[in-house]
Parts: sequence; structure tokens; C-alpha cells
Amino acid sequence: MTRISDPITINKTVLKNRLTMAPTVKFDYAGEDGMVTDKHIEHYRKRAEGGCGLICVEATAVTPGGRFAKNHLGLWEDAQTEGHKKITEACHENGVPVIIQLNHTGITANPDCGPAMGPSAVPTRNPEVLAKEMSIAEIHEMQEHFVNAALRAKKAGYDGVQLHGCHGYLINQFAAKKTNLRTDEYGGSSENRARFGSEIISSVRKTCGSDFLISVRTTGIEPDIATAIEIAEEYVKAGCDYLQVSTGIDWEDPTVDENNEHYNKFCSLGVRFHEHFKGRVPVSCVNGINDAATVKYLIENELTDTVDLARAVLADPGFCRAVLEDKSYNKCFDCPRCQYGPAMPHKCPAGGGV
Ligand SMILES: Cc1cc2nc3c(=O)[nH]c(=O)nc-3n(C[C@H](O)[C@H](O)[C@H](O)COP(=O)(O)O)c2cc1C
Repeated sequence: MTRISDPITINKTVLKNRLTMAPTVKFDYAGEDGMVTDKHIEHYRKRAEGGCGLICVEATAVTPGGRFAKNHLGLWEDAQTEGHKKITEACHENGVPVIIQLNHTGITANPDCGPAMGPSAVPTRNPEVLAKEMSIAEIHEMQEHFVNAALRAKKAGYDGVQLHGCHGYLINQFAAKKTNLRTDEYGGSSENRARFGSEIISSVRKTCGSDFLISVRTTGIEPDIATAIEIAEEYVKAGCDYLQVSTGIDWEDPTVDENNEHYNKFCSLGVRFHEHFKGRVPVSCVNGINDAATVKYLIENELTDTVDLARAVLADPGFCRAVLEDKSYNKCFDCPRCQYGPAMPHKCPAGGGV
């Protein structure tokens, strides 16, 4: 039986337990310059002190145009690297490895930040406006932005990066048939739809070295689990070390485990990926894992390699240590809109605060 306190090595990075912090964007911590602030540093320091096995820093924009909003963290220029060093130091001082999620919004771009662009001219946030279909030159330029941001991440001391390949953002838009209508080498087959992400992975590997952890937060369903696995197989071929599975754009799969009494249907996608990739590539599950019993059930029954926790560690920065030591914690209230979300006060009623 695997225990939640068992270490796991992913590429060369040792996680001291199976509980990881999922990326959760903090909208008003950064200003328009996208720089790390003291609030970020303290936020991640507290979660590192709180016993996470791995921290993934929130979605971070690879270009200003790819931000969620103007007050969103960035890694699009060298000047931003210094601030990130302070986050990595705060985590490493506590013996916790840390990676950073790199993202571009693509067709869902915030018009205050930049034009909507993506694999195809499909509707944007405003359904009457179509996105700009990216030319091959623009695709290559965008891939370079991801790779440059990954190199900055390495210079800042991150143990690796997580490419944001789910939740409907640019890498996911290329992977999904619904948003990718291309007929060139970036569209059509699963291999072609995965190519945008796969080429980023292989360039990051070449640029950042063999020891640099490359995770993809990949879509677990596009529109079905089997197709999402085909996409993920391409990422693995390109050098991805770790598949952190979440949701995507299109959902049409009667095989999804909708009614499991121990975990929800979103988490079930990671379970299915784990069944497929077991022994080959570590997999994490996410969604609704916010109590000790669910954490233990998933790990001890070897349904996943790691559990990724978002609201649980927002509600209580010490959640992981508490679960590892069988102690009590402030439990996420599952608010209809998480209090850490956009336009919310970042005052978690369960007690998380900064
Ligand atoms: C406030 C907030 C911010 C989030 N930001 C991100 C993000 O930056 N990147 C990402 O991939 N997912 C993000 N998510 C989704 C979470 O990582 C996670 O997948 C989701 O909350 C479900 O997991 P949970 O039940 O453990 O909260 C965010 C969720 C919340 C509540």
C-alpha cells in the first residue's frame, strides 16, 4: 500500500509526500507590471511551511496579452525573474520543491490585455467577435514565449514548469477539436492537435536541461477520455515528466465515472489517466479533494500518484501537515464562488487569509 507520507521522485525532483498544491491565481496580488509582490511570497511560504510535497505557483502569463486581467502575475520579461527567486527561496527554505504554471489565454484573451488569438477563428469571450487564427509564424513566436518564460523560471530557481494545457486556455484550445479547425500540421489528428504543446515541451527540455521537471496540466476529456489520453501520450513522447489531469473544453463521454461515492467526476479523469499511465508517468488527480479521508482513499488505494489540492490549501495553509499528522484543519466551505476568485476579497471564511 502506498501511504500519503511516501516520497515520490518525478524526474530528479523528490516530493517528500503525495500532497501537492494546485495552481490558484491571485488576481490583485500583482500590479500591471506583473511582478511578484510580498503577498505572493508570504502566500507560498505559508503553504510550504504547511507541509505540501510540491507547490505549483499560479497561472503566470508568458506575454502581457495572455494575462487573465491586468493584475495578473507574469514571467514575460527578465525583470520579473528576481521576484520569482524570492518565491522559490521561500519554498526551498522549507524543503519544498516548486514549479510554476505557464499560460496564455489565447481565444479567451481579456480585451484589456490583448487581442484574442488561437488555433482557429472561433468565437471569443464576446460570441460575436471571432479570434484571429494564428499563422505558422505566430505559432512559433508564441511557443518561443513559453520557452523563454520557462528559462526565466529555471533562472529564478524553479524546479520545473507546469504548462497550462487545460481549462480552455491556449494549449488546450489547440488540443480540442471544438476550437482547433486547422487543416495544417497543427490541426486534424490528435498528434497534430497536440503538436503546439509537444513542441513547447521538447524546446523547454532542450533549453532547460534533462533534470528540469516538465509537467502538463492536461485536459482529461476532449471530448472523451480516450482522446485526451492520445493527446497526453504525445506530450509524454515529447518529454513531459508528470501529468496533472484536470478538465477541458468539450465533454461528451458516457464512460465517465459520475457517481463514485469517494471522489467526483472531475477527479475521476485523473484516476482513469493513472490506470493508463501507471508505472510509466506519474499522474495527479484534482477537484473536490478537500478532506483527509478523500486524500487517503485516493493514495492508499493507488488510484493516483499524487493528489493536487487547491481550495483545501487556500482554506488552511497547513492542510497538508494536518492530514499527514492526523490533526484537525480548517475545512473549505465549498463556497459557490471561491473567495480567492476574481473580484473576491481573498478572505476565505474557513480561515485561510493570505
Ligand atoms: C481561486 C482559484 C484560482 C484558480 N486558479 C487556477 C490557476 O491559476 N490555474 C489552474 O490551472 N487552475 C486554477 N484554479 C483551479 C484549481 O487549480 C482546481 O483545479 C480547482 O479549484 C478544483 O480543485 P479543488 O477542489 O481542490 O479546489 C483555480 C481555482 C480557484 C478556486
